[in-house]
Amino acid sequence: MSIKPILYQNGKCRMIDQRLLPAREEWRNYDDYRGIAEAIRTMVIRGAPAIGVAAAFGAAFGARDIEAAGFEEFYRKLEAICSVLAATRPTAVNLFWALERVKRFARHHREIPLSSIREGLLELAVKMADEDERTNRALARHGNTLISRRARILTHCNAGALATAGYGTALGVIRAAFESGKEISVYADETRPWLQGARLTAWELQRDGIPTTLICDNMAGHLMARGEVDCVIVGADRIAANGDTANKIGTYTLAVLCKEHHLPFYVAAPLSTIDYDLADGSLIPIEERGREEVIRHGGVELAPAGIAVRNPAFDVTPARLITAIITEAGIIRGNRSGDFLDPLKPFQKKNVADD
Ligand code: MRU
Repeated sequence: MSIKPILYQNGKCRMIDQRLLPAREEWRNYDDYRGIAEAIRTMVIRGAPAIGVAAAFGAAFGARDIEAAGFEEFYRKLEAICSVLAATRPTAVNLFWALERVKRFARHHREIPLSSIREGLLELAVKMADEDERTNRALARHGNTLISRRARILTHCNAGALATAGYGTALGVIRAAFESGKEISVYADETRPWLQGARLTAWELQRDGIPTTLICDNMAGHLMARGEVDCVIVGADRIAANGDTANKIGTYTLAVLCKEHHLPFYVAAPLSTIDYDLADGSLIPIEERGREEVIRHGGVELAPAGIAVRNPAFDVTPARLITAIITEAGIIRGNRSGDFLDPLKPFQKKNVADD
C-alpha cells in the first residue's frame, strides 16, 4: 500500500516530514494555519497536489479560529489567511487552485451560519484529499495503457504518493503498470539539489517492491543512447494553456534528450494543475531557492565558500516536446502545431470544482 503523506485525525493534520526521509520516518502534527504555511515553505510537505491539500487544511484550521460578527468580516479574515498560505511557494498552481476553491466555497455558502461554513471548510479539505487520490488512480489507469509489458521507465523528482494525497501521478502510472502485472523497471533520477528522486522516489518504490535503479541526473543521456530507456514520465507543477509544463529543474533537459532519442515524454498530472489563465510557460513563476541547497549537503561543503550560485527549483518544458499529458479525464495529445491549446480547452470547466 502506498503511503499517504497527509492525514486528518482528531481535528489535526499529520504529515510525514519529507526533509528527513529516508533516514527517519517522523510524523508532525499541525492544527493551525501558520504551522501549515511553515510546513509548506520548509518542505515538510512538498509536491504540487500535496501542498494544495495541505493549504486547504490550513485554511480550514484558520477559519475554525476566526472570530467575526458576520460573513463580511469572516471572509476578510479568511482571505488574509489564504494570502499567508499562498505566499509559501510560487510555482505549483495546485496551491492557488485549492485556496481559490476554499474561498469560493465560503462565498457560495455566505447565507448559512458561520459555524456551518467552518465545518464545511473542514469537510471540503477532507474531500479534496480523497478526491486527489481518486484522481491519481484514474489518471494512472489511463497512463497504464501507454506502458509496454517490459517498459524501462525513467522518472525525475518525486511525483509519487508523497507528492500527493496518495498513490501519485507519474509514480501512479508506474504503480498501475506494476499492479497490472507488467514487468516494468524504473530509473529514478536523483534530482539535485534537494534529492527528491534519491530520497523519496527510491524510498517509495522500493517500499512497494517496484524494481528501481537510482541514477545521477547526468546519466540519463548515456542510458538513452544505449537503448536502455523506453519512456520518460514526470509530474507537473503547472501546465500553461498551451501545454508548456513547469516541473522540477532538470525535466526540460530530459525532454530534449527524449527528442534526440525518439523516446516518448509523458507528463502525468490532474486537471487542477492546468492554469488556463497563463497563455504559455514563459508566464509561469519559477521559484529560486537559497544557495545552501547547492553548496552544502548533510553538513558537508560541496563547493568553495563565496562561489556564485543559482538555484532555480523548476524549469519549463515546451509543449512541442511533450508526447502526451495524462490526466484523470484521459490522455491528451498535442495538435499538429505542437501545442495543446485546442486539446486542453474541453477540460477547462472540469478544472473548476463546484462544491
Ligand atoms: O519542489 P518540489 O519537491 O515540491 O517539486 C515537486 C515536483 O516538481 C513534482 O514533480 C511535481 O510537483 C509533481 S508532484 C505529483
